[in-house]
Amino acid sequence: MVDMRSSLQFCSAADRNKVPIKETLDKYLNFELTSIGPKQFLLEISSGTGQHIAYFAQHFPDLVYQPTELDISLFSSINGYISESKLTNVNPPEYLDVRDPPSKWLEGRLGEESVDYVLNINLIHISEWKCTEGLFYGCSKILKLGKYLFTYGPYAFDGNITPESNVQFNEHLKMQNPEWGLRDVDRELKPLAAKNGMYLLQSYSLPANNHLLVWQKR
Ligand SMILES: C[S@@+](CC[C@H](N)C(=O)[O-])C[C@H]1O[C@@H](n2cnc3c(N)ncnc32)[C@H](O)[C@@H]1O
Repeated sequence: MVDMRSSLQFCSAADRNKVPIKETLDKYLNFELTSIGPKQFLLEISSGTGQHIAYFAQHFPDLVYQPTELDISLFSSINGYISESKLTNVNPPEYLDVRDPPSKWLEGRLGEESVDYVLNINLIHISEWKCTEGLFYGCSKILKLGKYLFTYGPYAFDGNITPESNVQFNEHLKMQNPEWGLRDVDRELKPLAAKNGMYLLQSYSLPANNHLLVWQKR
């Protein structure tokens, strides 16, 4: 018998931020469920260890979840968290490179306007700009009209990065890869969203100088 626990990878940041992210998602996911009823579909892009999706799937059990990763070596950890929590509303992880056109995501099985929610945690600043472009372009195709992309991480706002710890984090990221770094919500992300028929509905300030941004498809 496979020992699922041995495959679990643990990220302490994911463990810390899952609670405030869940409390913010609560404003959207539960509201929709009470008013609409049927199972809705949430696609997570860059699921990492699987800690987030397993936690959210327990707290919002009426959704169907699809974890995805570029790094397929993380699949065993994602599967481990699904199995440990005995979740029946989470599909097995699938490969997804956000730089690919959305017609290729999940081997072409995602139809246009077939997804209710896309969740993306801590990818935008730890990847090249092409990934952020791919994320917004993909969401403009796969999201249903009026539905949401949630992005979480540290951001710049109108040319400013605050506090000093985020300035240092941005420098640290750029030293690792000059194409990485905190993206500017007002100067970069809002224009990119608008180009893709989306807009920033709400920005929530969360602990540790991170934000959860809610983008809506018009
Ligand atoms: C900082 S980790 C965040 C993981 C997880 N969301 C979390 O917050 O714990 C960034 C993740 O993005 C994934 N990633 C990097 N490039 C990607 C791409 N082009 N498409 C999809 N995922 C990508 C990495 O494999 C990694 O798991």
